[in-house]
Amino acid sequence: MPRFKTILVTGGAGYIGSHCVVDLLEAGHDVVAIDNFANAVGDEEGSPALQRAEQITGKKITFYKADLLNKSEINDIFDKHQIDCVIHFAALKAVGESMQQPLLYYQNNLLGMLNLLEIMRSHNCYQLVFSSSCTVYGEPESLPITETHPTGNITNVYGRTKYFIEEMLKDLSAAEKKWNIISLRYFNPVGAHPSGLIGEDPTKEFTNLMPFMAQVALGKKPVLTVFGNDYNTPDGTGIRDYIHVMDLASGHVAALNLISENHVGLKVYNLGTGKGVSVKELVNVFERVTGTNIPLKYVERRLGDITAMWADATLAKEQLGWTTKYTIEEMCSDFWRWQTMNPDGYPKKNIKASVIINGKS
Ligand SMILES: NC(=O)c1ccc[n+]([C@@H]2O[C@H](COP(=O)([O-])OP(=O)(O)OC[C@H]3O[C@@H](n4cnc5c(N)ncnc54)[C@H](O)[C@@H]3O)[C@@H](O)[C@H]2O)c1
Repeated sequence: MPRFKTILVTGGAGYIGSHCVVDLLEAGHDVVAIDNFANAVGDEEGSPALQRAEQITGKKITFYKADLLNKSEINDIFDKHQIDCVIHFAALKAVGESMQQPLLYYQNNLLGMLNLLEIMRSHNCYQLVFSSSCTVYGEPESLPITETHPTGNITNVYGRTKYFIEEMLKDLSAAEKKWNIISLRYFNPVGAHPSGLIGEDPTKEFTNLMPFMAQVALGKKPVLTVFGNDYNTPDGTGIRDYIHVMDLASGHVAALNLISENHVGLKVYNLGTGKGVSVKELVNVFERVTGTNIPLKYVERRLGDITAMWADATLAKEQLGWTTKYTIEEMCSDFWRWQTMNPDGYPKKNIKASVIINGKS
């Protein structure tokens, strides 16, 4: 029986949140999930991703359609449930959109976090796992990148929201010693649950490499646009540290285990594989594993994109006892299984709600 019984998962209907919920349920936690469906399929009737998480695990989830910007809605949820720890995924995350609508991003991501922290404190809940990102590092000064690398030299608004929140968490944990917080800096999450039942299905416009590539493989998009083939890398395309979303999910369970047994104040960990893979290499593996052909179109580099980034994940291994298990081949084959089983993503209508909605069965 885990020491933290009930976990509030914000953004639980989203890509990483829904996969993490599966691992939390399997680890024996009770899950209360919230989402406002800004970037996930679902409505008052429920979330198909969470419904399928229930199907995978055979366990129940309590779900609320709620917005972190609406303090009284969130407050009511804390009044109703004894929350032991919060995993905070809810955020807007599209880099391009964040440059066009900075206030939307600052309001949603920063105010959402502030509201949550205030409500947690007023309910005596001081345990938090926060979804941060390797974007907080900006252009790396050295590779692989460790947690001690300077942060803040960021070229986009989305990344700055993550950086500002990390700074806020530093100030908070320095001032109020009860807080017990882990900030996880994700590298590049890809893949899907091996069952093919849950995966990535954003409702906003997206340019993420793997979902885009899968759409091309399905013939829904004509070519895969690659931004830049003149980087200073062996094949000229950018290099990233792709991590299977289920490895990422297990990193959260490991983080919960650490703060349920120890008072850490604030700790930061990289979650990556430690291996850099170029865009071209990823496309080649995807084609080989799925037996598809992905036509490429090279265009100018995107403003603010960096050349190469991969993690040194030694700290997470030593202190969380966490390592990645999935290969690049599995990241591709699992995503492809999800995409071919659900070519149009989750069902958009007639969602059969088996999850407990707003606390009622
Ligand atoms: N996917 C990535 O590449 C990546 C990389 C690094 C960090 N992250 C971070 O991980 C977290 C989860 O990312 P994801 O890929 O699952 O994104 P996602 O968009 O699939 O999930 C985020 C969820 O939060 C919800 N949400 C947004 N604002 C909300 C609000 N105000 N109230 C309630 N719900 C709200 C959205 O509807 C969505 O379902 C985010 O914080 C993201 O910034 C993601």
